[in-house]
Amino acid sequence: MKEFEGKVAIVSGTTGIGRAIAWRFAGGGASVLACGIDVAANNELVQDAAADRLSLQVEQCDVSQAEAVQAVVAKAANEFGGLDIIVNAAALHPFGTVVETDLENWNRCMMVNVAGIYLLGHFGIPQMKKRGGGAIINLASVQGHACQRGVAAYAASKGAVHSLTRAMALDHASDNIRVNSISPGSINTPMLERSAGNFAPGVPITAVFQRWGQAHPVGRIGTPEEVAEMAAFLVSDKAAFCTGGDYLVDGGLLAGLGVQ
Ligand SMILES: NC(=O)c1ccc[n+]([C@@H]2O[C@H](COP(=O)([O-])OP(=O)(O)OC[C@H]3O[C@@H](n4cnc5c(N)ncnc54)[C@H](O)[C@@H]3O)[C@@H](O)[C@H]2O)c1
Repeated sequence: MKEFEGKVAIVSGTTGIGRAIAWRFAGGGASVLACGIDVAANNELVQDAAADRLSLQVEQCDVSQAEAVQAVVAKAANEFGGLDIIVNAAALHPFGTVVETDLENWNRCMMVNVAGIYLLGHFGIPQMKKRGGGAIINLASVQGHACQRGVAAYAASKGAVHSLTRAMALDHASDNIRVNSISPGSINTPMLERSAGNFAPGVPITAVFQRWGQAHPVGRIGTPEEVAEMAAFLVSDKAAFCTGGDYLVDGGLLAGLGVQ
């Protein structure tokens, strides 16, 4: 029997880390409903999952929209029979200081990165309670602990993810629902490619990734699959005593002072 056989998971974000986690869970036998806003990425994931005969469906969804999130949760409950796992990996990464960030972009960042987690919990936790418990993972970031210049909205949203994780963990421990966050360092995904283009315009992405990799004590950036392994551990029964925590997958980045 596979490790996640009989489990139903919703994973938001259909590229990068969300895709890798959806793939890891489905490969482990879970029924996965991935949801995201990117139509092309959603279609690609559907096709790849079908080719690999994985139990992985994809739903078009803006996680900042209550009705859309409610519909995704209803689909998991109606078509898969319930809900055991939620992974919140959908996010936006706007750039700018508070002066440079307009209110629309600030609000959009908070709606997707923070309210998206609230909405999946709001509609999803009652379904998990019907199954006797479950596990939730929120993708935070090292930027919720210590940040670089020019990412005010993003860093604030990730600090909020850490706090929201603790609040959800306390509120739902008695429901047998564990809630943890993962804080990755630099991970090779489309989001990091966009960051490279923003911070080092005109420089080849591989060169930027190599330079950023050197900032991590292990000497490289990480892969989405390495984050997915942490997610697989945290939702498994092996992590039964883990809730309310934040788990670094950062190649040692936060262990140092950034001064060599
Ligand atoms: N890649 C990194 O270096 C890194 C580092 C730390 C934290 N993270 C976090 O990991 C998570 C995954 O990021 P990633 O690196 O895989 O980036 P990514 O851009 O590949 O994935 C984010 C996904 O969210 C989706 N999305 C954006 N807005 C949405 C919305 N309104 N509704 C639904 N989906 C929406 C995007 O379409 C995309 O598929 C994010 O929370 C990110 O902040 C990433």
